Formats: sequence, structure tokens, C-alpha cells
Amino acid sequence: MDKKGFIFDLDGVIVDTARYHYMAWKRLAESLGISFSKVKNEQLKGVSRVRSLEKILNWGNMELTEAQFNELLELKNNDYLAYIERMDKDEILPDVPRVLSFLKQNDQPIALGSASKNARTILKEVDLLEVFDEVIDGTNVTNAKPDPEVFLKAAEGLGMDPSDCIVFEDSVAGIRAANTGGMMSIGIGDPAVLHEATYVFKDFTEISNEFFSKLISE
Ligand code: BG6
Ligand code: MG
Repeated sequence: MDKKGFIFDLDGVIVDTARYHYMAWKRLAESLGISFSKVKNEQLKGVSRVRSLEKILNWGNMELTEAQFNELLELKNNDYLAYIERMDKDEILPDVPRVLSFLKQNDQPIALGSASKNARTILKEVDLLEVFDEVIDGTNVTNAKPDPEVFLKAAEGLGMDPSDCIVFEDSVAGIRAANTGGMMSIGIGDPAVLHEATYVFKDFTEISNEFFSKLISE
């Protein structure tokens, strides 16, 4: 039987948490007097917590001691976690349940490949942890996206060759990671932003089961 490895990013692909990261980073940046925008935020999508803060401080030409840096990381994460604590299944993005059950019914291996250290907490909260055959997150990797490590580990965990894997991503860094890893990349979001992806869709409502069947048998 035909099999492909389906690897999903979490924030902004499975759940609507990208906006919480945005809100928490915006508050933190502005508290430091550094202006923040949706355009700047695109550069943080898919990027690790540490690297994101480095970028923000860079935009503001700010240098901090290690202790101050760690304090801000904690502040941002606590702010983010306050949003996460209130989340439930309503935060699962449109048609994600349909897609995941279609893949399950067709015996396709499914993995999560996320930069987030909060990934398992979030999956538990929306009751999706059991759906994934493999979960690779920010606690399992040393090299952040656009490095392909997270997706290569996910592919390995599924026992699939990278060339037989398909990655779903809402970030430029993640699309680059998938492409560098030799996988098909499918962007979820704005085609103007995610133009390096093999295909781009606004969201999963635009991807039919027939399209998935084709991916499986190709
Ligand atoms: C990615 C998000 O999925 O995870 C980034 O796109 C975020 O915005 C990164 O910074 C790390 O997440 P966390 O939960 O470990 O701070
Ligand atoms: Mg994402």
C-alpha cells in the first residue's frame, strides 16, 4: 500500500496559537520601547524562543545581560502560557480534524514537527496528542528551523524516507527547513509570504481529500 509521511507544524497549522505568540512578543517588545508589527512577526514564525528574543533585541539595538535575557524569556512564556491555559478544542484550525481522520483512515503515518517547547502541553489541551505517531518538538532538537533537523527526526521516527514526506507549515523558516530536508512543502497561509513552498493554501478547507489521495499515491 502507498504510504507517505505527513508532518505537521503546530502553531498556525494545527492550532490557532500563532496569534498568541504574536500578542506575547508584541507586548514584550513594546515594553522595551521596540516597535513591533505583523510584518516583523513573520520573521519570528517557526523560530525558537531564544532566537526570537535575540531578533527583537537586535531590532531595538539592545544588549542585555544573560540574567536579564532569561528573565524576559520567562516573562514572554508566562504571558503565552496564560493564553494557552484558556484554550480548548475551538482553537483547532478549520478542517484539521477532517484531514487528520482522513489520513488515519488511510493508514498514513502522521508526525508533529514543531519548534515549540510547549507543543505537548498544547496537544494535550486540545486532545490531539494521541493522533500523532511521532512528536518532535523544541525539546528534542538542537538546531532550530530553517535547519531541517526537526523534520528529519520526525521522518526518522515515522520510519519514512524524507523524499516520501510532506510538511505542512505556516512559516518561511519552516518551508525552508522542509525544502532543505528534501521534503515536499505545503504552505498554510499567504502565497506571497510562503512562495518557496511546493503548494500554498489559505487553510485546510482548501485542500480536498482527493488532493490527499493523490499525494499518497504519487
Ligand atoms: C514556533 C512558533 O512554533 O514555536 C514560534 O512559530 C515560537 O513563534 C516557537 O517562538 C517556540 O515556541 P515556544 O512555545 O517554545 O516558546
Ligand atoms: Mg507555525
